[in-house]
Amino acid sequence: MGRGFSVETLSRSGSLCSAQSGMLPLNASQCGFCTPGFVMAMVYAQITKKDQTPEQALAGNLCRCTGYGGLIEATRIAQSQPLDRAFVDEIEGATTVLRQLSRGGFSIINHNSRIDAPKTLENLLDLRKNFSSATLVSGATDFGLWITKRLDRPSHVILTKFCEQLLLREIRSDIIEIGAAVTIEDLENSLVSEYPELQEWFQRFGGPQVRCSGTLGGNIANGSPIGDSAPVLIALGASLTIHSCRGRRVIPIENFFIEYGKQDLLRDEVLVSILIPRRTHIRRLAVEKISKRYDQDISIVLAAMAEISGDKPSYRFAFGGMAGTPKLAEKTMESLNPDDLTSDFTPLSDHRAEAWYRLAVSKNLVRDFLDGDTSRE
Ligand SMILES: Cc1cc2nc3c(=O)[nH]c(=O)nc-3n(C[C@H](O)[C@H](O)[C@H](O)COP(=O)(O)OP(=O)(O)OC[C@H]3O[C@@H](n4cnc5c(N)ncnc54)[C@H](O)[C@@H]3O)c2cc1C
Ligand code: FES
Repeated sequence: MGRGFSVETLSRSGSLCSAQSGMLPLNASQCGFCTPGFVMAMVYAQITKKDQTPEQALAGNLCRCTGYGGLIEATRIAQSQPLDRAFVDEIEGATTVLRQLSRGGFSIINHNSRIDAPKTLENLLDLRKNFSSATLVSGATDFGLWITKRLDRPSHVILTKFCEQLLLREIRSDIIEIGAAVTIEDLENSLVSEYPELQEWFQRFGGPQVRCSGTLGGNIANGSPIGDSAPVLIALGASLTIHSCRGRRVIPIENFFIEYGKQDLLRDEVLVSILIPRRTHIRRLAVEKISKRYDQDISIVLAAMAEISGDKPSYRFAFGGMAGTPKLAEKTMESLNPDDLTSDFTPLSDHRAEAWYRLAVSKNLVRDFLDGDTSRE
């Protein structure tokens, strides 16, 4: 164990766990490259006992050798069995260590690098003010790629995920407040009962590993035009609370995205929470993710469409992948004519899709949503 972290192997005893031994008679492993990921997905399914099909439990894991028949069958068997006793003991041990670590409130400083893990918002904001060039890191699912792909070597990192205020999940009479460091997995648990239409969208956000680590705040603050949460939150009419030592401000989320690569966040500010309206006025919601692969893929287009009830219903259509930022289709919302998306957006062609395709698919999605509106018949 180094610096408080341990690497847990499948079994210290050398014997196979139930997920591994289930794979053997089914020949579910060939070159073995993908096998650890599949086995861990099966074990995670045993731990969470979620009501999932084997395909959902394995989503995001790819095998280039075996075909998926044996893997799916092995998962079905694993799901019907309890978690192995050896795992229960190891998980309890690891959980104890992680609980100690997750108390936060530490700084690791050496001659050329520094990591801070503040526990309170006050400390976080002080650090942000005093070290404005430090990198904020939440779940590190984007940040990790800057290290491995861009070979960045940041000298100072401030971790947000130990800060209690950023982990808040509170359901109030009119608002659901979600701390910026809440993971996508925990967000699902808070939001799906209010908005069941989001269930499939959650399932298609990365894989379980990414959802358990990646945060809602990170997904917004990265400013990506193809981040999956922004269009959904824009359609729902969400706001952001942004804090600094100078005070707190609340802005509609669509105003956060100024242009490609530029967000409304100053160097001494931190995104602290996301305010999502309760269901009250939202009559219908549809979220459509268009990507080349169903699971574990980046969106070509993400459309989130909401009908808001009132004397005269109004609509919020928000899109990712159609411009340099996630954006409302304001003209189309007014006219309810899908062809007006051509005025709202001038999408790019890239390796995921050409501009004409993005426009065509978006028009069809809006048309389908409006066709499903029985009150307009
Ligand atoms: C395999 C894989 C699959 C993925 N699939 C998807 C997908 O399907 N859909 C999707 O949208 N994304 C996907 N992503 C991208 C990523 O997982 C998400 O964007 C995730 O939500 C980022 O959150 P994080 O906590 O990991 O961010 P981090 O990597 O910790 O940070 C991201 C950025 O946000 C900033 N930041 C973080 N927290 C704050 C804060 N509180 N205040 C201000 N700035 C902050 C950081 O400084 C950094 O610039 C995927 C990534 C991987 C590696
Ligand atoms: S066994 Fe070779 S990639 Fe899956």
